[in-house]
Order: sequence, then structure tokens, then C-alpha cells
Amino acid sequence: MKVKDFIPDINLGTTNKGSFTWSSPSNIALVKYWGKKDNQIPANPSISFTLDACKTTTTLSFYKKTIDTAFSFDVFLDGIQKDDFKPKIETFFKRIEMYTPFLKDYHFSIETSNTFPHSSGIASSASGMSALALCLMSVEKLLNPDITDQYFNQKASFLARLGSGSACRSIEGELIVWGAHKSISGSSDLFGIQYPFEVHSVFSNYRDTILLVDKGEKQVSSTVGHNLMHGHPFAEQRFNQAHDNMEKLIGVFKSGDLKAFIKIIESEALTLHAMMMSSMPYFILMKPNTLQIINAIWKFREKTGLHIGFTLDAGANVHVLYPEHEADYIDAFIKDSLAQYCQNNHFITDKIGFGAKAQ
Ligand code: PMV
Repeated sequence: MKVKDFIPDINLGTTNKGSFTWSSPSNIALVKYWGKKDNQIPANPSISFTLDACKTTTTLSFYKKTIDTAFSFDVFLDGIQKDDFKPKIETFFKRIEMYTPFLKDYHFSIETSNTFPHSSGIASSASGMSALALCLMSVEKLLNPDITDQYFNQKASFLARLGSGSACRSIEGELIVWGAHKSISGSSDLFGIQYPFEVHSVFSNYRDTILLVDKGEKQVSSTVGHNLMHGHPFAEQRFNQAHDNMEKLIGVFKSGDLKAFIKIIESEALTLHAMMMSSMPYFILMKPNTLQIINAIWKFREKTGLHIGFTLDAGANVHVLYPEHEADYIDAFIKDSLAQYCQNNHFITDKIGFGAKAQ
């Protein structure tokens, strides 16, 4: 698929009004996307676990306008009008208008809610932008019922990417690749695809418990963060490393070698933060409790031999990843020893999920 394949090549139909609801999950990258080119093209490929419990539900209602000169929409979070969300959505609409030419024909009401608290430090951009992209694809399908399910999902991912890069990995489950990689046929910079190779059963229902170390607003927006990779002294090595780690993961997913898996994901997380620490300007996004948790995980792993590992987003929270068959022991360890490092002892229990659902 090329960019031009996402521009409708027929005259879409029309409708007076309608409403669609989608529920779309967050995702956690194992190999990180950090650095981008123009039009939200990633500087390197990434792969993520789709989550299950952390999700956004969005209802898009619309009616036909008489004049079609400007975008017209209202946004609500948990029933409360949110005009401060509008600039981001206006930018998104401008970026996708050529692919969804019906946008100016309707007034839209976007009603959204998240399963995770707004002030949890968990970014809602991946789940939120993917839910909105899916609702827009439902509108497109109403206007052009001939589109296939495969086109629907690929274009939803393509549109979501233009809202927030990592959102393109939130349409389907369980493992999603975004960004062209030489060994993964079908992988694309334009949209996410389901990981196409064998995955060992040890990864089924893989757990992700998110330790909320810092529930504040992000210290560095991802736009600023990605831009720090332009002219970064280690950028090229980092992008090559991401390609290598993707390659290594192909073998690891097949064999189920969790020791090798943990080495890759922890190195990826620390490299992401190392990139931020070594950019200009530089940032430290980990907090003292992030390091306490990492050290406690390492000690516990050494002592017990259990397969507990971590990854990080561009923030202080820690995602603790572990296989289902060890969950009883590791859940107890999290509750007894790691929760104390979280704000108000707050953590979210999640696991690998199957993707977005129409409601
Ligand atoms: O989708 P963005 O632009 O918010 O960037 C997400 C970047 C990371 O979460 C740090 C890594 C990733 O691949 O999700």
C-alpha cells in the first residue's frame, strides 16, 4: 500500500446523520519508536504489545451541515466539554483531510472516556487517536460500503498514525509492528501490521502491571522528544540498534527464551532514556522511585529466577512485564514490595490484548 491508496478514488456517498462508537486500547512498545521524519514517518521500526484494560471509548456523532467551509466539532471528556482538546484534533483533521474528504460536510460531536485516570501519567494519545480514527473509518464505510475489513484496519492505522505515531499500533492485537524492517514482510512506515511470524505460547496473556510513579503531566511532549533525535550525536547508532533488536526478537518470539526477551526490552527502555539524557537540551524523565523499582526488580529476579522484566515510556512510570504462569508470585511481589514506590500505592493491572472493538 502506498499513500495514494488511502485517498478515496470514487465519489463517496452521503448521509444525513449517524453515530459510531469504538473502544481502542493503549499499547506498550518493546522496541521503541523515538525519532521521526516528516509526516509522522518513524526513524526506525518498532514493535508493541497491545494492552487490554487501558483503553479509550469514543462515540462520534455527526449530522450534515449546510455550508462546508470549515471543520466543525465539539469534544467531551467524561461528558464535560473540552475546548482545550480542540487544537490537537483540528491539526489531526487538517492532516487527514485529503484521505477523509467528508470531514467538512458534517458537524461532529466527539465524546470520549478512558478506563485509566486522566492524571495517571498514562498517555491517552494512542488509545484516543486510534479510537477516533476507527470512528472516522466507520463513517467512510457508511459512505462507501465496498471497502474491505483489511483496508478498514490498515487505513484506521494509517490515519491514527497521523494523529499520534504510536496510535497506529493500537488497532489490532496482540503484537504489532510499525516501520519497515527487512525481515518482516508487509511491514510499513505508513501503518501498523500484526506480527506475522510464530509466537511461543509463553507470550499468551503476557502481563503488564503499570506502576504509577508519577501521575503528573508529561515533562517532555513526544513532539519535542522526537525532535531531539534530529542532530542527536548517537541517532544513527540508535536507529541501527532498533533494527537489530527487531531482528533478535523474531528468534525470541519463536523460541520463548524469556531471558533473551528481558535483555532486549530492558535495554530498549534504558536506551530510550539514555537518548533523552544525551540530547540537547537534555532531560531526566526517571524519578528516584523509578530507579528503586528497577533495582528491586533486578534483585528479585536474581533471587527467584522468575522472568520479571520492565520497560519504560517517555516518563517515570514502570511497566512490569511477566508471563502468566508466574503471575501469582510476581503479583504478590508487586503488591508487597513495589507498590510502596508508586504515588498513593497506585498501579494498574493489565495484560496483552486483542485490539479495538466496535461497540
Ligand atoms: O506516539 P508518540 O509520538 O506519543 O511517541 C511515543 C514514543 C514512545 O512511547 C516513547 C515509544 C513508543 O514506541 O511508543
